[in-house]
Amino acid sequence: MRLGILGTGNVGRALARGWSAGGHEVVLGSRLPEERTDVGLPVAGLDEAVAQAEVLVNATPGTVSLQLLHSLGASALAGKLLIDVGVGLSDDFTELSHPNSSLGEQIQEAFPLTSVVKTLCTMDSTAMIAPDGLAGPTTVFLSGDDAAAKRTTGRLLTDLGWPPSSQLDIGGITTARGQEHFALLFMGIAGGLGAHTFNINVVPASTAHT
Ligand SMILES: NC(=O)c1ccc[n+]([C@@H]2O[C@H](COP(=O)([O-])OP(=O)(O)OC[C@H]3O[C@@H](n4cnc5c(N)ncnc54)[C@H](OP(=O)(O)O)[C@@H]3O)[C@@H](O)[C@H]2O)c1
Repeated sequence: MRLGILGTGNVGRALARGWSAGGHEVVLGSRLPEERTDVGLPVAGLDEAVAQAEVLVNATPGTVSLQLLHSLGASALAGKLLIDVGVGLSDDFTELSHPNSSLGEQIQEAFPLTSVVKTLCTMDSTAMIAPDGLAGPTTVFLSGDDAAAKRTTGRLLTDLGWPPSSQLDIGGITTARGQEHFALLFMGIAGGLGAHTFNINVVPASTAHT
């Protein structure tokens, strides 16, 4: 697929490498494409990256993502799948910028002709593209209102190394709140563990207890 990844930071670059290695055509979208000469993959301006892509990925700071998407315009985003990995956090990682809501649902509300799927934001960028580097099977979550968009996202997750058995559809876009708000616990676990590369494994009850 033709993917346009908005943001050339840790997440944007990692996902671009992962999907490029999976055979997808990837362009990163940047505010300053001429300065991003070290990426090693095609980088274009934000408008151009959006225009070229079938699927968009939001890998920009969650505090500014809505403003940035508005500047691109609803008609440019209409009809596309937008995979949202963003989380809005304060600089000290202690406060959410969408505390009684979520970035994912606010994007969906602002752009009703775009199908938003929230995923991958519950782990660091290393785990996003190398789940097999973790010490056991783990879980990636999907939130979104459009079933077809979630199926497409699921296939793209498989191409990053997430087998279907590791993917858990947790419901509509309002469930993006749980994924984003986990960022606070993520920071606590990272502090306790002394590392950022880890992930959640959802372990159901054994059959003896169901
Ligand atoms: N890092 C992680 O492991 C991780 C894990 C889960 C979720 N997330 C979420 O994923 C998103 C991206 O994270 P990241 O770590 O890749 O962030 P980052 O390293 O700060 O990169 C964000 C990129 O967004 C672009 N951008 C556009 N508007 C911007 C603005 N006003 N200020 C700063 N950058 C702007 C920049 O690319 P250009 O300068 O080229 O435009 C920048 O490189 C965030 O919402 C974050 O909360 C990150």
